[in-house]
Amino acid sequence: MKKFMIGLSLSVLSAVAMAGDPAAGEQKARTCAGCHGTQGISMAPIYPNLAGQKELYFISAMQAYKSQERRGGNAAVMWGIASGLSDQDIKDLAAYYASLGTGS
Ligand code: HEC
Repeated sequence: MKKFMIGLSLSVLSAVAMAGDPAAGEQKARTCAGCHGTQGISMAPIYPNLAGQKELYFISAMQAYKSQERRGGNAAVMWGIASGLSDQDIKDLAAYYASLGTGS
């Protein structure tokens, strides 16, 4: 349990220490727009909205696609996309989508 808590606080610390850059994320998000919309509001019912998504959740979702631990639904669509992204790309994208409004 103690080990788990240390691991958890380290990963939270490193996420804060190396924050994403929303401007860089905006450039990198061009390839996502076809499915997730130019402002992170998806145009098709099978694609989730990303606008306003929490940064840490976004990062953990992308890492789970990258490692293919996230399965089911249409997860396989995201495997190939996430596999081409670095940890910094993912943080930048997370910062960008978190900065967008949800449009409501
Ligand atoms: C070909 C269409 C397509 C493209 C391009 C695409 N996605 Fe996705 N994305 C999906 C689908 C479909 C899902 C839902 C997968 C599932 O069921 O888990 C998804 C899910 C996600 C999720 C999880 C959302 C949640 O609520 O858990 C994130 C985060 C995400 N995509 C980010 C991205 C990023 C960042 C890019 C660009 C680098 C991208 N996607 C490009 C189709 C796409």
